[in-house]
Amino acid sequence: MEHILSAEQFDRKTIEEIFTVADTFPKSGETPLSGKILASLFYEPSTRTRLSFESAMLRQGGGVISVENANDSSSAIKGETLEDTIRVVHHYADIIVLRHPERGAAARAAAVSQVPVINAGDGAGQHPTQALLDLYTIRHEIGKIDGIRIACVGDLRNGRTVHSLLGLLTHYDDVSVTLISPETLRIGDDIRATLTEHHVMFEEMTAWDGVLEKADVIYQTRIQKERFGSAEEYEKAKGTYVLTQKEAARMKKGAIIMHPLPRVDEIAPEVDALPQAVYFKQAGYGLLVRMALLQRLLG
Ligand code: CP
Repeated sequence: MEHILSAEQFDRKTIEEIFTVADTFPKSGETPLSGKILASLFYEPSTRTRLSFESAMLRQGGGVISVENANDSSSAIKGETLEDTIRVVHHYADIIVLRHPERGAAARAAAVSQVPVINAGDGAGQHPTQALLDLYTIRHEIGKIDGIRIACVGDLRNGRTVHSLLGLLTHYDDVSVTLISPETLRIGDDIRATLTEHHVMFEEMTAWDGVLEKADVIYQTRIQKERFGSAEEYEKAKGTYVLTQKEAARMKKGAIIMHPLPRVDEIAPEVDALPQAVYFKQAGYGLLVRMALLQRLLG
């Protein structure tokens, strides 16, 4: 049994193995997960993660049981703990995909689960499968991961996709990272320490001038309203970095714009039609990567 809890547990060999399998999809008519059941337990909203995991299971012949809005529609509302819920659900499914608002919730679930638990986002902690699909996107759209220059922009304090992506990038050579955020939304000390420990070159800035022109990847993120203590703090931070056609025109040839989605206003809709905009394609790659991951864990 293998739980997927954090980007830190992956090494380069495992990442490449998952990508090699993802490259083989779609395969028609193959059902390697026939007879297996995936339970998706989502205590926070989701479009991409839940639906792509469920699609990945169904496309490989498996079945799905699902609770969305679990805080209100499961027995959590009667006071059942996460641990007790997992102790029940692991009898019904071969794998559990869990999203929860609390950092560390997936690890708590894994500690009592008899089947693999996949962390589909734990508060402002980690989102490791998003990071895998982000890396897969870079590999496909840029053609390489070693040597890339990436700028992560926005709410880096709360953005769990950035936390996990930076963790995976530590396995690649000569990667250069620029972290662009308002002063109040800087990345946490834990992630900074990880980058330092792995000798990843990084700098922190509050403006993207001079970075847009040099980066291979602009990884734009949403200011996460739901994680702010006060509406006032959110109002101050929102709209700090809005990528329009004007900013896109400053990007170097071949550079791409990524976003884990959903977006609010940080990428103008006019950018969607530009060749640099790969964020919807990125969401599509998520299906292939999650198909490969499920095959690895259950196949
Ligand atoms: N990127 C991402 O996690 O999207 P959802 O919240 O829609 O799952």
